[in-house]
Amino acid sequence: MSDHTNCQVTFFSGENIPLEMHKARMVQRLHLRGVDERLAIITQAGNNTFLLPNRDVFLDMLTDSGVNAMSEAQYAAMMLADDSYAGSETFYRLEKTVQDFFGFKYFLPAHQGRACENILATTYVKPGLTVITNYHFTTTKGHITRLGGKVLEAVGDEALNPVSQNPFKGDFDLALLDRQVTEVGPENIAFVRVEAGTNLIGGQPVSLENTRKVAAYCQKKGLKLVYDASLLADNLYFIKTREKGCENKSLAELVREIASLMDIIYFSGRKLGCARGGGIATKGEEDFMRMRDLVPMFEGFLTYGGMSVREMEAMSVGIQETLDFHVISQTPIFVAALGEELTKKGVPVVTPYGGLGCHVDASRFIPQVPQDQYPAGALAAAIYLISGVRGMERGTLSEQRNPDGSEHHSPMELVRLAMPKRVFTLSQVKYVADRLEWLYKRRDLVGGLVFIDEPKTLRFFLGRLKPVGDWQEKLVAAFKKDMPSGL
Ligand SMILES: Cc1ncc(COP(=O)(O)O)c(C=O)c1O
Repeated sequence: MSDHTNCQVTFFSGENIPLEMHKARMVQRLHLRGVDERLAIITQAGNNTFLLPNRDVFLDMLTDSGVNAMSEAQYAAMMLADDSYAGSETFYRLEKTVQDFFGFKYFLPAHQGRACENILATTYVKPGLTVITNYHFTTTKGHITRLGGKVLEAVGDEALNPVSQNPFKGDFDLALLDRQVTEVGPENIAFVRVEAGTNLIGGQPVSLENTRKVAAYCQKKGLKLVYDASLLADNLYFIKTREKGCENKSLAELVREIASLMDIIYFSGRKLGCARGGGIATKGEEDFMRMRDLVPMFEGFLTYGGMSVREMEAMSVGIQETLDFHVISQTPIFVAALGEELTKKGVPVVTPYGGLGCHVDASRFIPQVPQDQYPAGALAAAIYLISGVRGMERGTLSEQRNPDGSEHHSPMELVRLAMPKRVFTLSQVKYVADRLEWLYKRRDLVGGLVFIDEPKTLRFFLGRLKPVGDWQEKLVAAFKKDMPSGL
């Protein structure tokens, strides 16, 4: 697979335009509902963007999970799938792809990222044990705490600063890591987890240099090191373009070097590989054997792990395509384009622009909404209301309550406008920026939300909320005044 770095074409006009290095040959019809309809729809969905039917969404920027555009090679590979319960040729092809990609001998299939987390946590986490990570992910933490474990985070302070110049905000603070290990005691640590492209703090990457240091430290302390490679594609792009000394390394070399530092690597194939699946690779046989029997128990036989063979074929090709710089650059350059456009309009977003999506900073957008009324959730609902764009709350609503029932305030209140790979066009990006500019001008109208139905775990997925007061009706009236068509 080729590995060109010079795909950022310079425009004679001087404009910084992200150029698509692909063309669309299959398209999907979109629907843009009017603002009155959208008010009824978001109310029906309990002000939770997860509960919106896709037919009522104009631009689905909820996530990049399982909704990236697939390549013609991926679709072609799906036709060659070998459908058998045991010993499928498709599985052996996927296994070989993962082995070649990471340089690890052992591979376990699982139906998606959180299934890998379930297997990993069930195997290594016991009550009283701690997992130290640069930053948690919702489902990762859910599985660890479900099993009586504890999660500590070791990113530096800068990671939680929404306005920053630090190119690698996902890096571990090594002094903090050392303090945490000393306090907890290495014998009480299940594993240390490095999350590539840290999801919840704005898709911020981890540098190769920092990964090397964390690995050396873990080796010294006898700690198992686990890599969540779900967001590896974005992280690779940033290592290649931002990290000194890495610009001339091939993407394949970078992946192999990161992998060589780890004991276990798992990934969501909904992200890495642009299909729908997941898997765990291990360097050694012992870790493989400890986890192996849980695959038939929770996922399916060892040669499919809950995945359809067609998805496994697509994932196999998708993983190989991660080594094509054109493929991995599309999300970050479109995120940056949206970030730039919003910054020009004064809308507060997380900087540096990360992978995954553009992250709007609700704390600065609507400071009048207290954290107990979920500013990021309220802003996500308001964005849908005035644009039909579906983003995702990444703030206090996505946290679990403290054991005493009080709110666990998230250090950041973000609305993520995800940029699935190779899905949206520049005019759609401009539409998003335009509607957000309007909302920012009328931000005084936005109020908070309260739960009317709050699930006990991972409440952000299925919880239902209502607005505090009638701010949504007022926002709709203001929108119709400026945009009489209601669109
Ligand atoms: C960093 C990270 N880890 C794990 C997961 C879980 O993966 P899945 O959605 O496939 O269960 C995700 C999904 O968004 C993720 O971003």
